[in-house]
Amino acid sequence: MTLDLAEIQGTVLRNRPMPYFGAYLLFRIDDGEAARQGLARLLPQVTSARDWEAPADQAWINVVFTAEGLRRIGVPADIVAGFPLPFVQGMAARRVFLGDVGDSDPVNWDWPHGGNGFHLGLFLMGQSEEARDAKLAIGHEAMRGLPGIRLLSHLDVGIPPTMREHFGYVDGLSRPFIEGEGGEPQPGQDVTKAGEFVLGYENELGRIASAPGPEILWRNGTFISIRKIRQNVAAFRRFLRDNGDAPGGEEMVAAKMMGRWRSGCPLALSPDHDDPDIVADPLRRNAFRYREDDPDGRKTPVGSHIRRINPRDALDGTISDARTHRLLRRGSAYGPVLPEGSLEEDGEDRGIVLALINADPARQFEFVQSQWINDGDFVGEGSRSDPIIGRRDLTDDYSYPARPVRRRLKGLADFTVVRGGEHVFLPSLSALRWMTELPGGIGKPDAT
Ligand code: HEM
Repeated sequence: MTLDLAEIQGTVLRNRPMPYFGAYLLFRIDDGEAARQGLARLLPQVTSARDWEAPADQAWINVVFTAEGLRRIGVPADIVAGFPLPFVQGMAARRVFLGDVGDSDPVNWDWPHGGNGFHLGLFLMGQSEEARDAKLAIGHEAMRGLPGIRLLSHLDVGIPPTMREHFGYVDGLSRPFIEGEGGEPQPGQDVTKAGEFVLGYENELGRIASAPGPEILWRNGTFISIRKIRQNVAAFRRFLRDNGDAPGGEEMVAAKMMGRWRSGCPLALSPDHDDPDIVADPLRRNAFRYREDDPDGRKTPVGSHIRRINPRDALDGTISDARTHRLLRRGSAYGPVLPEGSLEEDGEDRGIVLALINADPARQFEFVQSQWINDGDFVGEGSRSDPIIGRRDLTDDYSYPARPVRRRLKGLADFTVVRGGEHVFLPSLSALRWMTELPGGIGKPDAT
């Protein structure tokens, strides 16, 4: 099985450099013809998976559309209507199902979404700030002189100088190996059917993942469920401090909430003390399972972030098989780092933007968000949610096995608040070319 690497936009299959400097540019389309012209200018700059490795300019551009964006550039409305429901409705419309309530309600979001004007997005990334900025200039240049396309938002993202996300964890360690991506899986890396992440290929259900309309539109494309999440770093640090009076101290609490020490070392491989040597070894840092070795979560609690979000083999033989709910996850930080040791917020906005790649957003992102992050029933934890990113309006406690008795942490705060989100479509290179030649779209006599 081989994937058409020259067709698939690079971010789907390829890892980012470390460190990297990225940006999200979100545009509104008011004229289909202008959007097609802008896209045609951008096309030579869009990086495929084949061309991802070390391009001459050390920088990359990928292009996405919301459902309304596809309609506005000229994809017939009846075709778009047949795309997956979460994409067609938009993430804000799914707020109750996703648990985006209270402060996380879309009325409080500060990032444009498909329901309020975001139609076309550019994701840019460079190995240096200069390389990223050079691509940014190209992105702006492509849209210059086209009043039918308006920039709504520019958000810089990347990996903080600490090389950790804002809560202090090393990130970006685990991801599935996609059949046909090239190379070999590493020890412990699940091999996943390509159709879980790219349309046009067989998925874990034995079907070819597809979408309506001509094959050129959807083949080698995929969906990204994006979440912009603000992190309340001071609240998280205060929680660790207030609960750090047990063996292992604050670092043990942080590890039991995540399932990895903040160094990235998995509890599954070193449950009693941190071992950064394990993280440094790509052959060891993901080489673990839960079912045989740790069925009750004595090492990696069943409710910890990484175990609930990817239970690996722990649920084999139950009705929810982890292989059909996988997400390819690309996280980038935004905002300045809260100075080390500070336990008070400084008024700055900081957090993470997650690009969760999936071919079936209902079965993948929405299932994980609603059943595994915001509920704990699947592991016998009642309505207890993810201790780091879960909603708190139903329960605010978290417990894990410890000696001599189970440890129960109470009063989990809202460590995270959703600030934006959307399901977007990432077309193949051929689909993008096809879209530049469409008739119609918004602003034309046959506009939809
Ligand atoms: C503030 C928000 C979040 C933070 C700080 C965060 C942090 C982390 C960290 C540090 C890891 C371990 C490193 C790794 O395995 O690569 C991880 C793993 C992961 N996270 Fe999150 N995460 C956040 C939100 C989310 C959300 C919203 C989702 C999905 C809906 C998600 C999905 C995953 C997945 C799939 C893994 C890999 C687990 C594995 O394969 O073992 N995360 N996250």
